[in-house]
Amino acid sequence: MKIGNNDYKTVWMEGHDVFLIEQNLLPFKFEIYKSTTYFETANAIKTMIVRGAGAIGVAAGYAMAQAFLQAPENDLLNFVTKAKNEIEATRPTARNLFYATELVFEAGKISIQNAVEKANEIASKDVDDTRKIGEFGNELIKDGFSIQTHCNAGWLAFVDYGTALSPIYYANHVGKKIFVYVDETRPRSQGARLTAWELKNENIPHVIVPDNAGAYLMSKGKVDLMIVGADRIAANGDVANKIGTFEKAILAKEFGIPFYVAAPTSTFDDKCNSGNEIIIENRNQDEVLFQTGLNVKGELEKVLVCSPGSNALNPAFDVTLAKYISGIITEKGIIKAEKESIALLLKS
Ligand code: MRU
Repeated sequence: MKIGNNDYKTVWMEGHDVFLIEQNLLPFKFEIYKSTTYFETANAIKTMIVRGAGAIGVAAGYAMAQAFLQAPENDLLNFVTKAKNEIEATRPTARNLFYATELVFEAGKISIQNAVEKANEIASKDVDDTRKIGEFGNELIKDGFSIQTHCNAGWLAFVDYGTALSPIYYANHVGKKIFVYVDETRPRSQGARLTAWELKNENIPHVIVPDNAGAYLMSKGKVDLMIVGADRIAANGDVANKIGTFEKAILAKEFGIPFYVAAPTSTFDDKCNSGNEIIIENRNQDEVLFQTGLNVKGELEKVLVCSPGSNALNPAFDVTLAKYISGIITEKGIIKAEKESIALLLKS
């Protein structure tokens, strides 16, 4: 993706180092974070320097490869097993994280070079998969459509194209007139900060809407289609995604608006029978209590935005039940959110 005149990837590796776009500073500052060890890369996932299911997965794959590069020859297996556990403890919900650590761990048993190659392969596959998601998803978008999306599932969240935003980019590219309603996505405001920034860079008309405006917009006929990303998809079609997704899906059904999830097969977890089994990450209450933004002097500042002394609850994801989902846009086509279709997809 282009920032100004330069091409950037969300995450990449050069030699032993991993480079990440520092997402905590966006959209106010554009900086690249350099991590020289697996530990630093794991920490970047934990502190959300990199976030979004696919980007987390690619970063975790690179972290695993770094662990192989760092491991002492006489204690390699112990070292990389410990590293794998540490990387996997950073964020529990995104399936892609575990998908990547498992693949790179197995590849590294053959050779260290093999681990690095596998990590790069995961990144390249995400690019191919999400491009195809764009092509398939574009078929759902008619000229003149208004599309609502929640959180950030663009190229910052999934290397190069994104998932939910990929069909939107594609439709815009082929000249369809589209408009995007961007859910703010409290508490970390991935919609207001990241999706809006991505869409602005692509010159796609959009507006940021408060998270609680969904019923109003949908009841007024403003939304033709909703597309969201996914952090983990269970074998029965239940989908974990950013908190607030589930209520939008219920609203979409009430108002007869198609509600689609966009995700590659690497986000599906066939060992997870239903959404009940998905571990939902509980994040620090400070994300709700405080907000960080630009002050009048143009400096980044963190301020308290809630009543002093009250505590906050901060579940990061919810699970949308399969019955509310019109379909899942994958790199192999659009499928129903149901057990049989998912089993067929994962076998193909
Ligand atoms: O907590 P985050 O920012 O890592 O959340 C992940 C997400 O960006 C969303 O849930 C997204 O819709 C799916 S990731 C493509």
